[in-house]
Amino acid sequence: MKVQIPRSEGLDNSLDLLSEGYLFILNRCRRLQTDVFQTRLLAQNVICMTGTEAAELFYDEERFIRKGAAPKRVQKTLFGQNGVQGLDGAAHKHRKLLFMSLMTPERLKGIVDLTRAQWEKTIKKWESKDRIILFDDVQEILCRVACEWAGVPLEETEVRKRADDFGEMVDGFGAVGPRHWQGKGARKRAEQWIETVIEQIRKGELNPPEGTAASMTARHRDLNNKLLETKVAAVELLNILRPIVAIATYVAFGVHALHEHPECRKKMQSGEGQYVQQFVQEIRRFYPFTPFVGARVRRDFTWKNYQFENGTLVLLDVYGMNHDPRIWDQPDEFRPERFDHWEGSPFDFIPQGGGDRARGHRCAGEWLTINVMEASLHFLTNEIDYDVPVQDLSISLSRIPTLPKDRMVIHHVRRKTV
Ligand code: HEM
Repeated sequence: MKVQIPRSEGLDNSLDLLSEGYLFILNRCRRLQTDVFQTRLLAQNVICMTGTEAAELFYDEERFIRKGAAPKRVQKTLFGQNGVQGLDGAAHKHRKLLFMSLMTPERLKGIVDLTRAQWEKTIKKWESKDRIILFDDVQEILCRVACEWAGVPLEETEVRKRADDFGEMVDGFGAVGPRHWQGKGARKRAEQWIETVIEQIRKGELNPPEGTAASMTARHRDLNNKLLETKVAAVELLNILRPIVAIATYVAFGVHALHEHPECRKKMQSGEGQYVQQFVQEIRRFYPFTPFVGARVRRDFTWKNYQFENGTLVLLDVYGMNHDPRIWDQPDEFRPERFDHWEGSPFDFIPQGGGDRARGHRCAGEWLTINVMEASLHFLTNEIDYDVPVQDLSISLSRIPTLPKDRMVIHHVRRKTV
């Protein structure tokens, strides 16, 4: 017996998506009392899904592919074209190995050491500054960290410009109009810069250390043993640099949480057990970053009596799942302790995608993100004190991606005295 997938009201919901942002899927699932509904977005039929079972289905490669899933507007800002996100099958697994081979314990320790060193340098500057827009400064810190870790040369004079471009690529994907155009411009500039780096490495004019992301992407060969096109190698190297800088969003949310929940700061300082890990997990759960992930139906199939037709775009609600009361007790409370002895599955806590990281499309940089967040938030709570002036701390859920309105301002930074 086949059942019609519940349909969202309205002919096309694109404008509702723009105005409801992170809540778009969650609102409709609640209203229609369903985990699956169909709608039209940007003039195409789309199925939206939420919940652990839906996540399991979504990450079944027999049922879904990524080719053609990301709209052009996302490729022209966030992802770039012909990168790992849009590959399937053997080609995807081979390309994914390139990323996973960079995530060894030694390489992760390397980026944590660089992060700590950058924080040390920054404190000296912050002590003499009146007012710090934390998000912007953390983007700069992480831009230096990302380039040094990846073996990409970066002059001190270009740090702000490059950090802005990385930020705008992320900021532009969920927008229409000027914010989107800025994102496109930023991607163009960044790709040109990184294509030159790849060419210089291939000509032997630049020799980044062995094992770094720059060296590995420049030398990576596809399944036919051919070097990646320069443009594609640049897209992949940017797939490492850009998201490292984007960790600034989570750090800003972390400082927001420390301000709103002073008891968390005390626990971070006392170094209690695994508290820093729990705090970081709760930041990734509670705060909005990735709204949803998308894939296309590989071939017709039926699930729970619903018909999924070949080629249909399907969106899985990442934000909604992080706030699903079936998965989380009191989901709208910020409570790091919920991660004490938390036993999840690869399909219920998916702030950076779900399923198998090495074989599927789950984020290649999840451990790196957690490590860099832990090092940064440990520093911000244990090495310095600061004050948080009056400002607009609200976080709009209709803007994708979002941040505290004033980008998290702090002042009176001073090193802790023991
Ligand atoms: C800043 C925090 C980050 C967030 C919120 C985030 C989120 C995500 C999400 C939602 C996906 C897609 C999962 C899917 O399609 O199922 C993804 C994929 C990916 N991420 Fe991240 N990510 C972050 C940081 C990083 C970092 C630091 C790196 C690398 C250093 C990275 C590299 C990648 C790559 C290469 C993919 C594509 C994986 C594939 O298609 O197989 N990400 N990320």
